[in-house]
Amino acid sequence: MPLSIFFLLLLLCLHSIVPPPLHAALALPGGLCLPMFLSVSDANLAFCVQEKQSCDYSKIFMSRKSTVTFQLRFIRLCCCIYLIGRDDSRRLASHFLTERELTCAGYYINCGASQEETTGGIQWIPDEGFINVGNVSKIGTPDIVPILATVRYFPDESARKYCYSIPVGRGAKYLIRSTYYYGGFDGGEKPPVFDQIIDGTKWSTVNTTENYASGLTAYYEIVVAAQGRTLSFCLARNNQTTSSPFISALELVSLEDSMYNGTDFTKYALSTVARHSFGYGGEIVSYPDDPFNRYWEAFTDSNPYVECHSNVTPSEFWNLPPATVFQRALTTSRGKKLAVQWPPVTLPSAAYYVALYFQDNRTPSPFSWRVFDVAVDGREFYKGLNVSAEGVMVYGTQWSLSGKVEIAMTPSSDSPVGPVINAGEILQIVPFGEKTITRDVITMEEFARNLKNPPPDWRGDPCLPRQHSWTGVSCSQSGSIRIVGL
Ligand SMILES: *[C@@H]1O[C@H](CO)[C@@H](O)[C@H](O)[C@H]1NC(C)=O
Ligand SMILES: *[C@@H]1O[C@H](CO)[C@@H](O)[C@H](O)[C@H]1NC(C)=O
Ligand SMILES: *[C@@H]1O[C@H](CO)[C@@H](O)[C@H](O)[C@H]1NC(C)=O
Ligand SMILES: *[C@@H]1O[C@H](CO)[C@@H](O)[C@H](O)[C@H]1NC(C)=O
Ligand SMILES: *[C@@H]1O[C@H](CO)[C@@H](O)[C@H](O)[C@H]1NC(C)=O
Repeated sequence: MPLSIFFLLLLLCLHSIVPPPLHAALALPGGLCLPMFLSVSDANLAFCVQEKQSCDYSKIFMSRKSTVTFQLRFIRLCCCIYLIGRDDSRRLASHFLTERELTCAGYYINCGASQEETTGGIQWIPDEGFINVGNVSKIGTPDIVPILATVRYFPDESARKYCYSIPVGRGAKYLIRSTYYYGGFDGGEKPPVFDQIIDGTKWSTVNTTENYASGLTAYYEIVVAAQGRTLSFCLARNNQTTSSPFISALELVSLEDSMYNGTDFTKYALSTVARHSFGYGGEIVSYPDDPFNRYWEAFTDSNPYVECHSNVTPSEFWNLPPATVFQRALTTSRGKKLAVQWPPVTLPSAAYYVALYFQDNRTPSPFSWRVFDVAVDGREFYKGLNVSAEGVMVYGTQWSLSGKVEIAMTPSSDSPVGPVINAGEILQIVPFGEKTITRDVITMEEFARNLKNPPPDWRGDPCLPRQHSWTGVSCSQSGSIRIVGL
């Protein structure tokens, strides 16, 4: 280790003995988080500059209460890094961190909550450090799961958006999921309709009407690459909004580089339409089966299903699907075409990313393979796909689809067994990434910090989306997005 780095580490270690402000952590290759000491006066958070997906942000989050344990953890980590260098650090780090902390890095934010809560092996943290507007309410529904038990809602009609700011690694890829359980917290007369915005881009409209009527939770999910060191997630009123926007939970999970990598994330994001485990009829498959806590819903139809006799190795698939979703498959009898009406929704006309997963379900042997053609919406998706017991994923990065879609698998003429399909993912490609130029954003944020009472919507992108710019800020109408007046 070069001497300068040694001294830097030593300095940082010493520093960590002196309590706050500790507002930053740097994830090192090899899976450790190294604290840095920036005086970000308004943030009560840790800041992870993310290289590899090994740094558990939720653990780094620092509430004032837990400052002491937090400091101790980092003293140990610093010394650990300093002593052993980075190759062994992952192994040694497991003395200090559990396996989960090493695998699933993310923020799991329980909006409106007053304390940390662990459910399903995930530690949920309160949202206080990430937002400074809105009010909190409890949900009256008895025996409700902790993450749905509270909401943050936004009664202030004058604000043009309500933003969470979350520290991220520039360019790193994240799965973001927002969860909404209305539960009639405001009297239950008008389930809210509102927009969700990520950085400068409107992502979608949330309409809680139908889910409220059927007692369900709505969730929305998108894969984005962070453009800067903070990512803003905002709710905003639209012209259909008649009651307060609200949110129950917000998750941001860091993904591996290989996941969904056929997409240019500097220009696009992928908004999840459906993700299913075929032939399976149980509860949603998620963490810990899926270390990224993706939701794989059950999907059965009139086709017969088969049980699989061997496990796949998820790391051999770029999208790292959980092994669990390969345990069952839809199939059909020998010589017949297997047709699956999927996804179970009517698609708006758009471009989609489609990934399909297959495995020969028989006990592995030199003969446990089968060959068939795959078509999506009547168009050839993959010809002569050879599926063995090891399994295979095929994906299309840009498929124009609309309406109802059918996935069809046609066996080759001499195949002794019918086709199989285990799982599928379909995500809509949405343009993403327009933003106010960084220099102007920094200037404005600095300015806002120095104001005693900045307007409540002065968070997130100052100019975009256009109808949700910061109150009182005027922006250029063409060319690169700049602030032209106050
Ligand atoms: C929401 O909170 C603000 C300030 O924290 C307060 O002034 C306002 O009365 C609250 N609104 C409701 C509806 O509770
Ligand atoms: C919200 O959904 C309900 C039920 O599906 C529908 O009747 C209503 O028109 C929707 N509202 C908006 C603003 O889209
Ligand atoms: C409401 O907003 C949408 C999207 O911004 C727009 O297309 C629509 O024309 C608006 N409707 C009314 C009634 O203003
Ligand atoms: C996606 O990731 C895999 C595994 O790291 C790599 O082999 C492949 O070339 C990548 N594809 C693209 C388009 O970057
Ligand atoms: C399919 O792959 C298996 C090995 O996984 C191989 O033995 C077999 O010959 C292949 N079949 C065809 C038709 O390519």
